[in-house]
Amino acid sequence: MSGGRIVAGVLAPHPPHLVYAENPPQNEPRAECGWEMLRWGYERCRRSVLALEPDVFVVHSPHWKTTQGTHVLGVPHFSGLSVDPIFPNLFRYRYEIDVDVELAEAIHHAIEEDGLVAKVMRNPNFRVDYGTIASCHLMNPAWDVPIVGLSSSTAFYDFGDDVGHEEMISLGHATRRAIERSGRRAVVLSSCSLSHRHFTHESETPEDMSREHVYHHGQYLWDMRLLDHMRRGRTRQIADEMVDFTRQATAETKEGSLSWMLAAMDFPTGPAEVHAYGTVIGTGNAVVEWNLERAEVTR
Ligand SMILES: [Fe+2]
Repeated sequence: MSGGRIVAGVLAPHPPHLVYAENPPQNEPRAECGWEMLRWGYERCRRSVLALEPDVFVVHSPHWKTTQGTHVLGVPHFSGLSVDPIFPNLFRYRYEIDVDVELAEAIHHAIEEDGLVAKVMRNPNFRVDYGTIASCHLMNPAWDVPIVGLSSSTAFYDFGDDVGHEEMISLGHATRRAIERSGRRAVVLSSCSLSHRHFTHESETPEDMSREHVYHHGQYLWDMRLLDHMRRGRTRQIADEMVDFTRQATAETKEGSLSWMLAAMDFPTGPAEVHAYGTVIGTGNAVVEWNLERAEVTR
């Protein structure tokens, strides 16, 4: 099969707070409200992306960390209870996840073709990480589109930020090639926040928005710089500045999700749509859509 393509990419951060505040039936804790700008941004993004009728979401998560290369979820169905280790009071989520195993295997093959270390996760009892779950839930709460989940290798930590970044660029190229061969209409999801220094104390009512604000102005300036690049189609410049950004803003891009996604999309030059920006316990989060079908129409 061939003729597949990436129809959209989304910067799709995974704060469990956003799932908590939506009160979906899968999540045990109940919230009054909270983080509306981000949640309503996700709703707009979701409508736009699901209208493309994707066959699959391919997600790269900072919270599935593997020490030996990139792993790919490779079991047709996962179910279980995901409890956020940092916020068990907010996220105790019963998940049922369908996986596009054929595409997962194709991505695994393409990664190995490029000389990178990769492995297919075949353990049916594997507990899927909350980063993957939260991003995919927020993009598609109906879970009626299968996913492929990619782990984040520790290349950034083991070999340095710049080496990790370059490795994720290669991973993105391999992912793109596999999708093109597969015939799938895929949406790629970068499951990460931007600036990521956060408060160490939680307010008594987690959704008390009088306590929510940027951690500090420097982080905010870095986030605005990146979002400006995105809105102007400067994805190559983002890649050039990624290592500085990650260091200076203590960004969650360290695990490579955004580097991977930009490369998978082959560094689009059309403007991305920023559906929302907001903070969660002080971290900077943006919901940003690259709608590659629409970009082609208007080019
Ligand atoms: Fe995270």
